[in-house]
Amino acid sequence: MQIKVLGSGAGGGLPQWNCNAENSKDARNGHEHVKPRSQSSIAVSSNGKDWVLLNASPDIRQQIFDTKQLHPHADGPMRNSPIQAVILTNGDVDHVTGLLCLREGHAFNLYASNRVLGTINANTIFNVLNKEKVQRLEITLGTPFEVMSPNGSLGLEVTPFAVPGKVALYLEKEKAGTNFGTEEGDTIGLYVKEIATGKSFYYIPGCAMVDQPLRDRIEGAEMIFFDGTLFTNNEMLDQGLLPKTGERMGHMNMSGDDGTLKIFEDINITRKIYIHINNSNPVLRDNSEERKIVESKGWEVSYDGMEINL
Ligand code: MLT
Ligand code: MN
Repeated sequence: MQIKVLGSGAGGGLPQWNCNAENSKDARNGHEHVKPRSQSSIAVSSNGKDWVLLNASPDIRQQIFDTKQLHPHADGPMRNSPIQAVILTNGDVDHVTGLLCLREGHAFNLYASNRVLGTINANTIFNVLNKEKVQRLEITLGTPFEVMSPNGSLGLEVTPFAVPGKVALYLEKEKAGTNFGTEEGDTIGLYVKEIATGKSFYYIPGCAMVDQPLRDRIEGAEMIFFDGTLFTNNEMLDQGLLPKTGERMGHMNMSGDDGTLKIFEDINITRKIYIHINNSNPVLRDNSEERKIVESKGWEVSYDGMEINL
């Protein structure tokens, strides 16, 4: 199974278009230790020819350009693409708006939870994806499904499952109390297994908390991509960027007693990779103390273009 990180950044990417903080400034200016990052998405393939995207980021056009595996097959018809399916993990802007760039009549299958499909269905702009070509398929939490292209199996089985999280920012209901109207299915994780080999990994780019069911599920995993949004819960406030904690955004921080570095210490996972890393996070500076800390705890920081063969 081949995995390609198309984008490793959180919403906004690095540099973020309107951001003047150190990481963004340095990424913009070509700093050798702060590389640009596009918004989070990965591509997965069992046969190396047909690919499934996990989320479709607003940077998808550039991500396809930068990824030779996603270029039209040179020996194919005049219009073709290796992208055969897209699976969404939530309805966030950084994960769904790339769908709008996949118009032009290409056939692929779109998989999402009932909640996220409801959002897509309610927004008529997504009708740029011709429903006869792009089937919208509802996935059932806890139930494995074989990922299909319009022409047949893609050799992958995916199990979607609910994780603690928050409804997309633009759907928040202020009056709904502390969870802003979040319901099950607003944020999901994916367990991806290659049918032929049994090789597998987890994809969880957004998660508010590792609760016991999630801990039990991921224990013993071969590999996990996990929410690496912030290093500290308050870092966006501290850098004067946004008056919001990570907790308020439905994301976990890396450091501290409630952070992923500590929590994953006693979960047995062979390979742990952070993704969806916010432009405020000091681990994006590859010579920072914080980067050393996460690497010393066995974590990798994903980067755009990272390739993994499982
Ligand atoms: C998030 O990950 O919390 C969202 O992408 C935030 C946003 O929509 O800006
Ligand atoms: Mn996001």
